This record gives sequence, C-alpha cells and structure tokens, in this order.
Amino acid sequence: MGNMDLISERDPKSPIAEAYRTLRTNIQFSSFDKKIQTIMVTSSGPGEGKSTTSSNLAVVMAQTGGKTIIIDCDQRKPRLHKLFNLSNEVGLSDLLAGNTGFSAAVHETKIKNLDVLPAGTRPPNPSELLSSNKMSGFVEDLRGEYDCIILDTPPIVAVTDAQLIARYVDGCILVISSGEVEREAAIKAKALLDKVQARIIGAVLNKVEVSEKGYYGYYYHYYYGNDGQKVKKKKTSSSEKSVSA
Ligand SMILES: Nc1ncnc2c1ncn2[C@@H]1O[C@H](COP(=O)(O)OP(=O)(O)O)[C@@H](O)[C@H]1O
Ligand SMILES: [Mg+2]
Repeated sequence: MGNMDLISERDPKSPIAEAYRTLRTNIQFSSFDKKIQTIMVTSSGPGEGKSTTSSNLAVVMAQTGGKTIIIDCDQRKPRLHKLFNLSNEVGLSDLLAGNTGFSAAVHETKIKNLDVLPAGTRPPNPSELLSSNKMSGFVEDLRGEYDCIILDTPPIVAVTDAQLIARYVDGCILVISSGEVEREAAIKAKALLDKVQARIIGAVLNKVEVSEKGYYGYYYHYYYGNDGQKVKKKKTSSSEKSVSA
C-alpha cells in the first residue's frame, strides 16, 4: 500500500492505531437504542484530517469482522482512491448516474471486510448529487449489505454537501485540527450540523503534537448532549478511554 496515512493497517500496534480502535469502541457504545450503522466524518475546513480519520476508522471497523464500506463523498477534493491506491475512474457519481454497476465502482481492498467506493467522475453539481433521493436511497440500501457504512465528506463550512449528507446518516464525527482558529471554526461547524439536527456522536481533536514519542498526535474526546453549546477542550490521551455523552 505504501502510504503513511493508513496507519491502522500498516502498524496496528502503534498508539495511533490504538486510538482509532478506542474511537471505534466509543462509537459502538454511543447508542444503545439505535445501532449506528451509517457514519459521516466531517470538519469545518480543508486539511483537518477527515479522509485520514474516516479511512482509519473504516480499517478498524473492518478489523472487527463487520463488513465495512467507505464512500468518498468529497467530489471536489477526492482522496480515498489515493489512500487505498485505487483508480478513481468510476465511482459514486458514475454509479448514481447509472453509468456503471455496483461491482465496477466498488473496490475490494486487501484489508479483509473492507470495500471502498471512490468519488468517481467529478460532476458539475456535487451538492445536487449528494442531496438527491438517489443518494440517500443508495446509502439506505447499503444497510442490507454492510454492517458499517462510512462517508468521507468535504468541509462543512465551505460547502453545503456535508450538511446535506448529515440528514440521512445515523451519526456524524467532527474532526477538529488542533489550533485556536480551527476551534472557532469547529463551533461554527457544530452549529451547521445542529441546524440540520445532525446527531454528532463524537469529535476528534487531530494533529496534536506528541513530541516525546515522535508520533503525530491523535487525541479525541467526546462532547455534548444536544444541549452542549461549546466544544469542550478537554484532552484525553489516546490510551485513556473516554465516554460519550
Ligand atoms: N494527525 C495528523 N497528524 C499529522 N498530519 C495529519 C494528521 N491527520 C492528517 N494529516 C495530514 O494532513 C493532510 C490532510 O489530511 P486529510 O485527511 O486529507 O484532510 P481532509 O480530508 O480533512 O482534507 C494529509 O497530508 C494528512 O496526511
Ligand atoms: Mg478529505
């Protein structure tokens, strides 16, 4: 695979992979009443680590033995095909347009139980595609085929795409790059998600320096309750368990 970003696959014993597994556990325990089967990963701005987080989450979900698919919904800046070394010639957009079949668009990976659906041909109107009944119906149909469906999305403050997707998934994960500016933006992102009554099941505080280990940091924590107004800044170390609200 030869890439550094799929650390859960490359180095499952690393503390970062362990942190992704803890994230998985917290998602699994985030709801007792309703199974969280479709999960969207977003952030306020670009480059905060949505694709990295969603891919690693997909890897650790697949590692539990549940059939998992990750879908690249970032039609503007697709990245999953690169992370998984796949072609992006056909993908989600082509499938929804009826130009290709499921088996041609969806790739199996060398990771057991993990399939990837790349973004595909860039459509002139990504928001329209993502808000279509065809798209929500497609995601709904996948429930019959997969135990876990993960959607990587574009930044929520820049375009409406992620807000549109939030309406038809079970839960959202908000990735927040460490830094003051990003925190302010994250509050805006949360407000946008609240506006569509998205269910935010977790926040990932990404890119925290952990100098003594030489690893890039991966910390996350959970916040709220639906009444929670602010993003709390409490950090927990990757080896600590945190509990969802
Ligand atoms: N925890 C992290 N520490 C350091 N670099 C990271 C981390 N997470 C992501 N990156 C890097 O940041 C860049 C953007 O990440 P990506 O996941 O593509 O962001 P997004 O999907 O939000 O645009 C990539 O080069 C990725 O390798
Ligand atoms: Mg991305």
